Amino acid sequence: MPAPKKARPGTRTPRERVRVLITGARIHKRIQALAREIRKDFPGEPLHLISVLKGGVFFLTDLARSIPGEVSFDFIAVSSYGQKTHSSGQVRLTRDLDSSIEGKTVIVVEDILDTGMTLRYLLRLFQQRKPKHLRVAVLLDKPERRIAAVRADYVGFSIPNEFVVGYGLDYAERYRNLPYVGILVLGPGLKKKPAED
Ligand code: PRP
Repeated sequence: MPAPKKARPGTRTPRERVRVLITGARIHKRIQALAREIRKDFPGEPLHLISVLKGGVFFLTDLARSIPGEVSFDFIAVSSYGQKTHSSGQVRLTRDLDSSIEGKTVIVVEDILDTGMTLRYLLRLFQQRKPKHLRVAVLLDKPERRIAAVRADYVGFSIPNEFVVGYGLDYAERYRNLPYVGILVLGPGLKKKPAED
């Protein structure tokens, strides 16, 4: 998540708290089901998971360990500039994959599908590289915020338009390590970025 306006990395304000939205146990159970579904769709095929740094890493490692059979993975990083909440928002590649995806069955693994700008960029990029199949798995889907016309093939949970943290998702780089997904509740005087309102 982009850093909210008044957040100061490294300092913890007592005026914020996290309300549990999806427990770790529910996440675990849902990932097991997604893993079974993915394997059923591609029986016996090597699967190449691509995670988008940094938020997608927790989902990737849990998903990879739940899919039986041959699984490899790689990482990519992008950054956004301009407002992602406008269709003119730009996404830029900051770290490319280590290996070619040509002829591979690729599953893009994301923690959250929000405006869809990141995924739209990645799908265009990956499609040009001629994978055998290209699918998308997201842990969280926030359909209300969608700008780009993209969709995920595998969705963990569809969630309301709340600022969520945990299980890879951050607030000024904090909370990624929470084993659950929660809603960040800010006290009076603390405001999230307008994009998150
Ligand atoms: C988050 C998330 C997705 C992207 C989705 O990443 O991990 O990559 O935003 O948003 P979109 O659908 O509006 O494009 P973020 O930019 O917060 O970086 P991070 O993963 O390093 O936290």
